[in-house]
Amino acid sequence: MQTVTDPARLHQLVLQWREQGFRVAFVPTMGNLHQGHIELVNQARQRADKVVSSIFVNPMQFGQGEDLDAYPRTLDDDKNKLYDASCDLLFTPEVELLYPAGIGSQTYIEVPAISDLHCGNSRPGHFRGVATVVAKLFNLVQPDIALFGNKDYQQLAVIRAMVRDLNMPVQIVGVDTVRDDDGLAKSSRNGYLTDEQRTIAPKLKQVIDATATAIHSDGLAQREQLQQQALHSLNAYAFVPDYFEICHADTLQPAQVGDNQIVILAAAQLGKARLIDNLRLDLS
Ligand code: PAJ
Repeated sequence: MQTVTDPARLHQLVLQWREQGFRVAFVPTMGNLHQGHIELVNQARQRADKVVSSIFVNPMQFGQGEDLDAYPRTLDDDKNKLYDASCDLLFTPEVELLYPAGIGSQTYIEVPAISDLHCGNSRPGHFRGVATVVAKLFNLVQPDIALFGNKDYQQLAVIRAMVRDLNMPVQIVGVDTVRDDDGLAKSSRNGYLTDEQRTIAPKLKQVIDATATAIHSDGLAQREQLQQQALHSLNAYAFVPDYFEICHADTLQPAQVGDNQIVILAAAQLGKARLIDNLRLDLS
């Protein structure tokens, strides 16, 4: 596996592959890799000739007071994991090389409407930062396909909208959430949890599952009440819930009676960790 820090060098290498007719898959990450990230690389491996991954803790998607400085950086470990997963090329740019004009003054991508909901409501500017960095990385790597986790459901929706609206010639693939044995979605931020908080963390998924069971048996008429109950349960388990919303799976707007494709989206703070999770439901 080759590691490259210079965007121009990355572009050059990938261009050579493309000239040789190779199909290129791309897995962008912020590092501190776990089995969720590696599953994306494994899926990429199955769908392309060459796999490129990136590790870049993107300052543009972190708000003031968020964990940009504390975000875990474990590059040596990450390289070993990517090597074991047969990644071909790792891109680890410096902030100054990816943002030569400075973050405040550079061109950005704003995906309207969907970026302001849910996580975007609590983290203003977050999805602008995500969309912008992903577009920059797509321009450098020019992948045939790019893989993202369904765990970050709204992020995936933002990226799909960007690719559609800007006619980006890349196929977006969503990969199922990889979980620990007790159901907790794997996340780089789980490392912030104390031992005690780690025993509580799986309750987030349990509350989502209980809500799904209620929707399957009683439908969506009590949507707001179900959301309130879920928030109440999370509070009782010592989470500080951010939101718990039963939504239309595509628009991410509140689900209406008669909608079939549903997603339950939840985010909650537990100690220093902001945990998010979701569940897709097909009611048809
Ligand atoms: P990061 O949080 O490192 O996640 C990188 C990719 O791994 C994302 O597509 C995310 O959805 C996926 N992922 C994370 N946990 C997962 C899990 N448990 N199961 C399956 N996939 C999982 O998301 C980002 O980085 C950044 O916002 C990025 C897209 C790289 C832009 O900076």
